Amino acid sequence: MSLVTLAPSGKEIDVAEGTTLLAAILGAIPEFPHKCDGNAKCGSCHIFVLEGRKGLTKTTREENEKLDTIVGVGSKSRLACQAKVLGTENVKVEILSFV
Ligand code: FES
Repeated sequence: MSLVTLAPSGKEIDVAEGTTLLAAILGAIPEFPHKCDGNAKCGSCHIFVLEGRKGLTKTTREENEKLDTIVGVGSKSRLACQAKVLGTENVKVEILSFV
């Protein structure tokens, strides 16, 4: 298990190993955008990983290719639907596109 903290709300979620950040975030924020249902095609689930980047699976080529098309991407960017919690360390993410 890892503790995932959502910024800016500060909400904390216990997340099992292998769970995507998208699934974890949807548990706390059901209206969090995920237009392509987790297929790395829409970019609407773009988040920043503020802490615990090593506690997530590595960025895949498919994810990188999608990130390259999104405005405002930085070194902390991930697609929540592609990043899975490894259970090795706690993670803090910033919700960017929350509506
Ligand atoms: S839900 Fe579409 S890219 Fe993540």
